[in-house]
Amino acid sequence: MKATPKIAVFDTTLRDGEQAAGTRLGKRDKMTIARQLAKLRVDIIEAGFPASSPEDFDAVREIALGVEGPTICALSRAVPSDIEACGKALAKARRPRIHTGIGVSDIHIMGKFQDDRYGKTLEGKKDKLVAIAVDAVKRARNCSAEVQFYAEDAGRSDPEYLYRMLEAVIAAGATVVNIPDTTGYTVPEQYGALIAGIKKNVPNIDKAVISVHCHDDLGLAVANSLAGVINGARQVEGTINGIGERAGNAAIEEVVMGLRTRHDYYGVSTGIEPKEFFRTSRMVADMLGMPVPANKAVIGTNAFSHSSGIHVDGFLKNRQTYEIMRPEDVGLNESRVVLTARTGRAGLRARLEKLGYKLEKEEIESLYQRFLTVADKKQEVLDEDLAAIVHDELPQTETAIKLDSLHVFSGTGAIPTATIRLHLKGVLKQGASIGDGPVDAVYKAIAAITGVKAKLLRYEIRAITGGTEALGEVNVHLELDGRRAMGRGASTDIVEASAKAYVDGLNRVM
Ligand code: KIV
Ligand code: ZN
Repeated sequence: MKATPKIAVFDTTLRDGEQAAGTRLGKRDKMTIARQLAKLRVDIIEAGFPASSPEDFDAVREIALGVEGPTICALSRAVPSDIEACGKALAKARRPRIHTGIGVSDIHIMGKFQDDRYGKTLEGKKDKLVAIAVDAVKRARNCSAEVQFYAEDAGRSDPEYLYRMLEAVIAAGATVVNIPDTTGYTVPEQYGALIAGIKKNVPNIDKAVISVHCHDDLGLAVANSLAGVINGARQVEGTINGIGERAGNAAIEEVVMGLRTRHDYYGVSTGIEPKEFFRTSRMVADMLGMPVPANKAVIGTNAFSHSSGIHVDGFLKNRQTYEIMRPEDVGLNESRVVLTARTGRAGLRARLEKLGYKLEKEEIESLYQRFLTVADKKQEVLDEDLAAIVHDELPQTETAIKLDSLHVFSGTGAIPTATIRLHLKGVLKQGASIGDGPVDAVYKAIAAITGVKAKLLRYEIRAITGGTEALGEVNVHLELDGRRAMGRGASTDIVEASAKAYVDGLNRVM
């Protein structure tokens, strides 16, 4: 019997996903997500772009050291110093992979490599870029047995040039060739034909795995990825919830559930544990402050709810009438563990570990005190509450500003007034302000005390779990001197949550 071909799943939530406008993950959050991706059993985690910042370098190094299971990959341009940074960041990885590459479409070649040192004509530049790519792959192979090459903007490239480039980099040692539709321009038939063309026309293609990396500018990233698989790709790239540059990347949960649910059509398998999809999706949404739309395929809260009379009637008679996947397959409706004020430190620690948080003893102690306060108010503490508590209590960054206390006066006919005490680099300061509403008054008071006038780009509030006693979570997006950052805060008091989110955002943006 013929074995089912296996498709490797390459997750780039922590690299391409994190490039989503206005989002930046702290080191601790990245590590927690990477551990969860290992539980989801992705084959490769692209942990970051080490040459882009010291924070990215550290995050890749720590993930390479601390996350077992998947191959850990780091991105570089075809630039020697980038490749060196990848080699260093991945030095302790059990299975490292360097992902290097260069633009291959005429638009990229003429637009990004204008300097004459890359050649004077399009043809001259094309020759030069092949030489640069070959050199990059050879350098990467000195640091890592697995080298993945990306042909940036392959979706809009001249196929003949793409074949030439791929043949050269495979001969230089690339073990995987990634064919990105960087701008989300292609349509499924075209992208599928591109992959088929590569299989047919690149003479040494049997020495490398073909990977698909699709963006969602026309809403076709998942369809294009699946068309790539049908035509011979054996690795799919994407992000959780489809987050990423502009309209995002292919959503991994959709590609994988597409392959699974339509196994009859695709005839391939993955090593993914789909029951971890829901938990992973919510973790990424919470940490990036990008909530999942209710109607999102596979993991949206409405993805398995039936409301019209005809549908409900049919569903109750036989769920297969209106359901092609079961919610439990993707971890929805998993029986929920509820913690209460009677839960001890050991119970709290065990639950946090299950959720992927590895914490020091002192951290557990401070979390436990906060957990008790929440449990007293809410009676039942759910996983989502715990994630918010961890984020609140254990900041990602050095905190220059810390909220000490706040007092707010507001009501019908009253002028909203906030009095705030903050620790500013360890010194207690206080100030007051009036505003258009209680949150506005709080933000003005914080700005007056700190002297930092960040622009509030976005303010979102949501109840983390149901009920009026639920923890409220506020997400803000701030801009200061051209830099952007997200801040989060949670409390059963929404004005306090708003203040915490603003302070968190200020600490990050500064
Ligand atoms: O979309 C793209 O081309 C990329 C590459 C850097 C792999 O993300
Ligand atoms: Zn991309």
